[in-house]
Amino acid sequence: MKKLQFRFLVLLPFLLTMLVFCVSTGTQKSGQRTLTIGAMDKLASTLPGNITWTSSDEDIVSVNEEGYITAAGFTDFQSGTGSAVITATAENGRTQSFTINTTMTALVDMLELPPMKDQFKDYFPLFGNIVNPRDIGSSGVTNERLLRHYNVLTAENDMKPDKLSPSRGSYNFSTADRLVNAAIESGFQVIGHTLLWHSQIPQWQASLRTNDTSPELALQYMKDFITSVVSHFRGRIHTWDVINEAFPDGGYTASSNWREVMRQDRNGNPWYMKIGADFVYEAFLAARLADPGAILYYNDFNLDQRAKARMVHDMVRDVNARYRQTHPAETRLLIEGIGMQSHHNTNVSPANVRNTLSLFRELGVRISISELDVLSQTWGQYSPRRETPAISGKIQAANLYGQYFRIFLENADIIERVTFWGIYDEHSWRRTGLPLIFEGGAVSRAKPAYYKVIEALEQHRQSLN
Ligand code: XIL
Repeated sequence: MKKLQFRFLVLLPFLLTMLVFCVSTGTQKSGQRTLTIGAMDKLASTLPGNITWTSSDEDIVSVNEEGYITAAGFTDFQSGTGSAVITATAENGRTQSFTINTTMTALVDMLELPPMKDQFKDYFPLFGNIVNPRDIGSSGVTNERLLRHYNVLTAENDMKPDKLSPSRGSYNFSTADRLVNAAIESGFQVIGHTLLWHSQIPQWQASLRTNDTSPELALQYMKDFITSVVSHFRGRIHTWDVINEAFPDGGYTASSNWREVMRQDRNGNPWYMKIGADFVYEAFLAARLADPGAILYYNDFNLDQRAKARMVHDMVRDVNARYRQTHPAETRLLIEGIGMQSHHNTNVSPANVRNTLSLFRELGVRISISELDVLSQTWGQYSPRRETPAISGKIQAANLYGQYFRIFLENADIIERVTFWGIYDEHSWRRTGLPLIFEGGAVSRAKPAYYKVIEALEQHRQSLN
């Protein structure tokens, strides 16, 4: 008791000063309110004349010049709550403050949320995710989460070269067929992923890097492989990722010649290493002939990097120019689309993503965000350090999701598809980095990143009005 009294006495001068301060500056407190993240409200000030509105933290609650507030974020990731003070300042210097608490609709199962494919349908006709054998049954897709939110599927692993052609000239289509047929049965479009790659390839392809097969023979093997696979699935595949990840991450500049800098080390692209840069044109041509109904894509990651995006741009430009020359009657492009995988982390700048989209726009191709996930940490923290993401990283990733989607939406006229690389964190290939917008398992909850994505959609809609 004594102690308490003592504390009060010590604090008294401070409390009095605060009181005097508030009265003399004319700060008026106008109570508290709580808003769900993404929601808006209008604050009404009782102060006279023109009011200037400010927020103590725009990332938590933003305010515009008319006093409209948007609950934008959270400071406590676990419970998804935040708090910011909005201050109205009158011309005479008097102020009024409002404390706004934010809360996300925490722990909502993704099965209870409105289908994202519907929410985004005016902008991205294709909204996708990955599919694995565990997601299907004998007569269709059984994963309710896929069925609810997505309309296009990419096999996470089962249509890669090592799965489809264990040895040269022999094919194993059984799992891929089951996946593709189940997806179609359930009304999904299917992405064929992927024909030519340096990873997850069978030994007969990998060994071309170093063996003495002639370039001519290798070209024949490549065409046979593409023709067999693409013809097998003919009519069932919306888009083929014909070539995946042909460029390395460094070792060249934006003014390099794309023909000289493709992957060529011991893990390089065997087709490039054996045949040379012409393999690109030949591969796309073989795919076109085998299924003229399929859209043909080049797919790669880290396309936020300027030099890499430039190489891809130049390659697509040159290959399409060659096709136009040799096929003057053809109205379609040969490489019709670029897949930006978008395996991001908290260092991937939205501005760079925007720049790449404007660069690719010049080519007249379609774009897909083909494998989206955003680590809740930097690349260095994820690998090799394998750190557990900090709260600040989770918040950053959620905010980045919102910013990326704003940019995707601004470019919706060229982006036909957004595909996430995983349904929820626990099933992600980069699960320790918590890269997706849902988490959980039996119940897959929407993370703040989900609300940021939806908020971006709302903001985009409002900006169009
Ligand atoms: C990943 C899968 O998600 C993992 O399960 C597998 O172990 C490795 O490959 N770029 C691609 C995808 O094009 O095929 C990769 O998928 C992720 C990077």
